[in-house]
Order: sequence, then structure tokens, then C-alpha cells
Amino acid sequence: MKILLFGAGGTIGQAVARELGSRHQLIRVGRTGGDLQADLADGASLRAAFEKAGAIDAIACAAGNVRFKPLDQLSDDDYRFGIEDKLLGQVRLVSLGGRQLSDGGSFTLISGILNYDPIAGGASASMVNGALDGFVRAAALELPRGQRINLVSPALLDESLTKYGAFFPGHETVPGARVGRAYAKSIEGRITGQIIRVI
Ligand SMILES: NC(=O)c1ccc[n+]([C@@H]2O[C@H](COP(=O)([O-])OP(=O)(O)OC[C@H]3O[C@@H](n4cnc5c(N)ncnc54)[C@H](OP(=O)(O)O)[C@@H]3O)[C@@H](O)[C@H]2O)c1
Repeated sequence: MKILLFGAGGTIGQAVARELGSRHQLIRVGRTGGDLQADLADGASLRAAFEKAGAIDAIACAAGNVRFKPLDQLSDDDYRFGIEDKLLGQVRLVSLGGRQLSDGGSFTLISGILNYDPIAGGASASMVNGALDGFVRAAALELPRGQRINLVSPALLDESLTKYGAFFPGHETVPGARVGRAYAKSIEGRITGQIIRVI
């Protein structure tokens, strides 16, 4: 399969590439690095990346930013930032990438544990993750030509514990390899409209 992987250079993106890279042709997309450059928050850059990639069998995303702040400090602008980047950014992959995607091809988007198991400072992240859940379940009903869509929702990764562990007191972490396999389940399997929780 020819797979377009957004955020390929990141912690989750690298785990996905390790799982799928030997079996498939990966086109790595990053804001700065990778085979192609595009920003989820910039529709024109996404259109250009899809055009360059040509026909593809899977669009997978391991990118998307939100702001973490205490609830009483989160402004409209902070919420809008996450909506524009992680939420609408991934929705754009579906609305702009569908034409390039083969019959039966798949979208795999990323959310995270925080809408099920929240942390202090994570209200915007939880909101965006919950919205992605709803989007994926509904979009699966209407995608044309047998196209599929799933959402990977991991706990904090082992590999991210040093960076973010202090914000996740008492949370269990999961190995990146399990998250990579969740993408494989979405891309190589037949499921659609599923939230694939890795906890
Ligand atoms: N790490 C975890 O434990 C964990 C757990 C659950 C959920 N998540 C979610 O998984 C996603 C990825 O997390 P991560 O820890 O792997 O991130 P990361 O290590 O910071 O990597 C993010 C990757 O995505 C790219 N990227 C970032 N913003 C982008 C944008 N707007 N458009 C296009 N590419 C963009 C980055 O490219 P550049 O470096 O070029 O900017 C980088 O390659 C996030 O949405 C995060 O909330 C992470």
C-alpha cells in the first residue's frame, strides 16, 4: 500500500513507521521534515501535499497540537488554536484527501486518552479528542467508495513519559509499538468508524 503519514517524524509517527515501513510504501509528511511538508492548519499546504502524493491507499495522521493550561487561564484563542490545528486539521485530511484515496482506502486519525481519563490543564485537549470521536463515528457512515475511517486513542506513551509524565499522575503508559499496531489494525484490517483505544 502507498500510505501518506502526517507527523511521521514525531514520537507516535516513528512508532507507526516502524510498524508499517517494511510492508508498505510510506510517504512521510512533516511541517518541517519528511518527504513532503504540510501544516494541518493550512489547507493550501495540505492540497499541495495531496497533489504531489498522487493516488494513495491510506492517509494516517500522528500530528495535531492543542494548548495545555489551567481551566481558568484557557482563553477563546487557546481553544481556537486546538480546534484549528488538531481537530479541523484532521477533518481537513478527510475533506481534502478523499479524492486521492483509493476505493476501500482508509483514514486513520489520532486523538488520545484525555477525553476518557482527563488531567488538570487538559480541558482543551479533552474537548478536541471528544470532538474527533464524534466526527470519526459519523464520517464512517458517509464516506464513498468503501473508504474507511478510524481513530487511534492511546494513553501516554512510554517514550513520552520523561517529557509529559509529571502531568499524568498515576496514569499507566503504553509502548509505542502497541500504538503502531493500532494503526496497522485500522489500515490493514477492515474496520471502520472505530475508536481504537490503546490503554
Ligand atoms: N506522545 C504521547 O504520549 C501521545 C499520547 C496520546 C496522544 N498523543 C497525540 O498524538 C499526536 C502526536 O503526538 P507526538 O507526541 O507523537 O508528537 P511529536 O513527537 O511532537 O510529533 C509531532 C509530529 O507531527 C508534526 N506536526 C506537528 N504539528 C503539525 C501540524 N500542524 N501539521 C503537520 N504536522 C505537524 C511534527 O512535525 P515538525 O516537527 O516538523 O513540526 C512532528 O513530526 C498529538 O496530537 C498528541 O496529542 C500523543
